[in-house]
Amino acid sequence: MLKGKKIILGITGSIAAYKAATLIRLLIRKGAVVQVVMTDAAKDFITPLTLSTLSQRPVLSEPFQGGSGQWNSHIDWAAWADAIVIAPLTANTLAKMANGQADNLLTAIYLAARSPVFFAPVMDVDMFEHPATTKNIHTLQSYGNILIPPDEGELASGLSGKGRMKEPDEIVSLLESFFKKKNRFRGKKVLITAGPTYEKIDPVRFIGNYSSGKMGFALANAFAGQGAEVILVTGPVSLRTACTNIQRVDVSSAREMFDRCMKHFPTSDICIMTAAVADYRPAMPAKQKIKKSDTALSLELTPNPDILKTMGEKKKNRQFLTGFALETRNAKAEAMKKLRNKKLDLIVVNSLKDAGAGFGHDTNKVTLIDKEENIKVLPLMSKEALAGLLTEKIYEYLINKENHAI
Ligand code: C5P
Repeated sequence: MLKGKKIILGITGSIAAYKAATLIRLLIRKGAVVQVVMTDAAKDFITPLTLSTLSQRPVLSEPFQGGSGQWNSHIDWAAWADAIVIAPLTANTLAKMANGQADNLLTAIYLAARSPVFFAPVMDVDMFEHPATTKNIHTLQSYGNILIPPDEGELASGLSGKGRMKEPDEIVSLLESFFKKKNRFRGKKVLITAGPTYEKIDPVRFIGNYSSGKMGFALANAFAGQGAEVILVTGPVSLRTACTNIQRVDVSSAREMFDRCMKHFPTSDICIMTAAVADYRPAMPAKQKIKKSDTALSLELTPNPDILKTMGEKKKNRQFLTGFALETRNAKAEAMKKLRNKKLDLIVVNSLKDAGAGFGHDTNKVTLIDKEENIKVLPLMSKEALAGLLTEKIYEYLINKENHAI
């Protein structure tokens, strides 16, 4: 999988830089071409000579090679790479990347990157747990960059906790699996809904809900990262889309979401509805702002179309339909009813009772139920990890389906 792959290995000033030497050896052994780009601070931890000897190429560090007039074009290097791996990545360089700063060759290459970027934040547990670091990691993930999560354990400072760089062989496995999966959804169109819907009461008010859209966006990134053409129909959220093969369609109300989904549904192979669609909307939104008065106010509500149910009714055999269910009572039984009623292939159930699951969180704890009523209870995990796992599951179902068709 890595034979001939051109990999830029970015190394920053962390004690874990020594692990980069082993990482280079393993990558070279697999046939990859490794170009090391190190920050000045990294040179205090490992010498460029060691790294250039192992990578069999001069190490790059400065945009300009002192005196010689040679320019290391960040644009050319960014275009050259099949993947950029930044390991170890310090809190400092992470913050620069999250803010789009380009004050050295590595951060400039990152900003110009066209290939997938893997990043392995490595630092002491307290720095790791600072909200600024958490925010910066999420920002990079929202750009579509792939987190190589740190391990927990003994740290160089003597403290113990989260912050150790993953072992080089695990990073190599991760890259191998990435390249293996890169194109497996090529030619497939994936329709995803995300976020809340806003149902107009009057020109300044609406009925909405707390959905953040994070799950749907993580799924869009995961499928796009594996070669799918993704249509992401999203209600109002404050998230960004990064991958070029995600077509984002912004909507506000359930009826708008319905219309946009129905346009793409006939040509979609996989549909995943994560949106928290309002079941009802005000029957007659007021044209002017409703004035305050001392008497009670009633709003007449009318049902919204059920996007997923409509899809289930129109579904062709080749199409794979996944719904999400958020229940406060009898979660599994209710979800199974929904699975049958909406003619789904798979339903992802999250219960509001589980800490860290559902609206607004970065993590989710779900149970998967397929149409054969196989039940799989999953542990609490990040929404990105769950998105990755769902690409696996759906891929397996599609392979089985295609085999059946044969
Ligand atoms: O029936 P319930 O709203 O609980 O079903 C949840 C699932 O149905 C989610 O996947 C949600 O995105 C989808 N849904 C929909 N259109 C609606 C209501 C729910 O697509 N109007």
